[in-house]
Amino acid sequence: MSGGLSGELRPRAAAARRVSIHSHIRGLGLDENGKAIKIADGLVGQEKAREAAGVVVEIVKQGKFSGRGILIAGPPGTGKTALAIAIARELGEDTPFVAINASEIYSVEKKKTEVLMQAFRKAIGVKVREQRTVYEGVVASLKYLRGRSAFYPYPVLAGAEITLETTDDSMKLTLGPEIAEQLISLNVKKGDVIMIDADTGAVRRIGRAKGRARRTFDVDLYRTVEIPSGPVKKRKDVVRVFTLHDIDVSIAAQKAVATSLLGLLASEREIDDEVRRRADETVKKLLDEGKAEIVPGVLFIDDAHILDLEAFSFLSKAMESEFAPLIVLATNRGMTKIRGTDIVSPHGIPRDILDRLLIVTTRPYTRDEIKAIIEIRADEEEIPLSEDALELLADIGVEKSLRYAVQLLEPSRVIAMRKGKTKVEREDVEEASRLFVDVKTSVELAEKYGDLMLR
Ligand SMILES: Nc1ncnc2c1ncn2[C@@H]1O[C@H](COP(=O)(O)OP(=O)(O)O)[C@@H](O)[C@H]1O
Ligand SMILES: [Mg+2]
Repeated sequence: MSGGLSGELRPRAAAARRVSIHSHIRGLGLDENGKAIKIADGLVGQEKAREAAGVVVEIVKQGKFSGRGILIAGPPGTGKTALAIAIARELGEDTPFVAINASEIYSVEKKKTEVLMQAFRKAIGVKVREQRTVYEGVVASLKYLRGRSAFYPYPVLAGAEITLETTDDSMKLTLGPEIAEQLISLNVKKGDVIMIDADTGAVRRIGRAKGRARRTFDVDLYRTVEIPSGPVKKRKDVVRVFTLHDIDVSIAAQKAVATSLLGLLASEREIDDEVRRRADETVKKLLDEGKAEIVPGVLFIDDAHILDLEAFSFLSKAMESEFAPLIVLATNRGMTKIRGTDIVSPHGIPRDILDRLLIVTTRPYTRDEIKAIIEIRADEEEIPLSEDALELLADIGVEKSLRYAVQLLEPSRVIAMRKGKTKVEREDVEEASRLFVDVKTSVELAEKYGDLMLR
């Protein structure tokens, strides 16, 4: 078995891996009584918030959460975003998760309510069942292909070669760059069971093939599945999840093509009410015919204290609509003015909205918790760390911030690799932390040298 803490340092696979900083989170890590297991599903500590989130998930699953939302309040780096993602994972793997920062509503191109409406409709899934031609099997080999581009100086991802196996069949496929991208972002590895749509190229990671556990934390992190039987290429009943926004965009594009040649721009523009009405009608028809079902997702709005009254009133109406997603607001502010007013309110949120929110708080982590989170991240990014390096990163996490410590992993890996090492050691982390500063330090420096810097 290779990779992980027991593995070796090696150059990144052909394409730079883009693993999101939350990719290690698989769920809330609760036991059957809803109690948080200290370390589970990629989450560490923060037990009370996780248990509260578990209760919310239960209420949502019973269909009794409409008209309400939750607010996660806590200092930076205490897992507010992580918790929101865990809630979405817990609601089911097809559950849409949409994250925006409240500042995004003040865009130049679109009205505030349009930005919110689009985010809102992206957070509502429509599950459609249909017969498709797919390639399905366990990944027996996977190689990324690099190529040169006329427009970009570094090697770019040109595609991938993959061998898929079932208990009865084996097939080698050469894939284009779009599909290779998906394999990377889904973090597909040898031993994973995947399915590729023959027409659209959409990739789905189904789970880990039985008996081919991946890494230290595998056991509780990955769903294990049987190796499929029959041919690799086959017709199969598959479920696809679109969002209401996808449907809006496709209808807007059809309409635009009919009237002008600007169909391609449709998704960038504002979508008019008429288009949304047609999208809703299309969906209602599918629902009535039993061909589709609605999957309410999670709409996460970070830095919610930046929202203004217009945005809050939109949200309050939206929370009551027929197919509302779960709205999760997050903030690290206490008492503060509601944006655009002189009214001071808790978390900068108007009272009437606060009344409809269940509030969950997150607290700073202990050193042991920070250490465990860094260990999980290192494992996720496949960066072997010496015990000393891990201890130093834990100290850095305590003194500076968790996010900074997590961010030092990749530079430390590069520094260690340059020296031909198989593991990141303490000195590599030291060097990385000398080269890159944390946000607090960069602000202090900017203020100290304020006169010399552009304002
Ligand atoms: N309890 C936790 N268990 C595992 N990873 C966590 C936990 N809390 C935070 N993280 C990870 O630490 C980093 C910072 O957390 P984040 O969710 O961005 O904090 P916040 O949103 O409160 O600023 C992210 O990579 C996140 O996934
Ligand atoms: Mg966050």
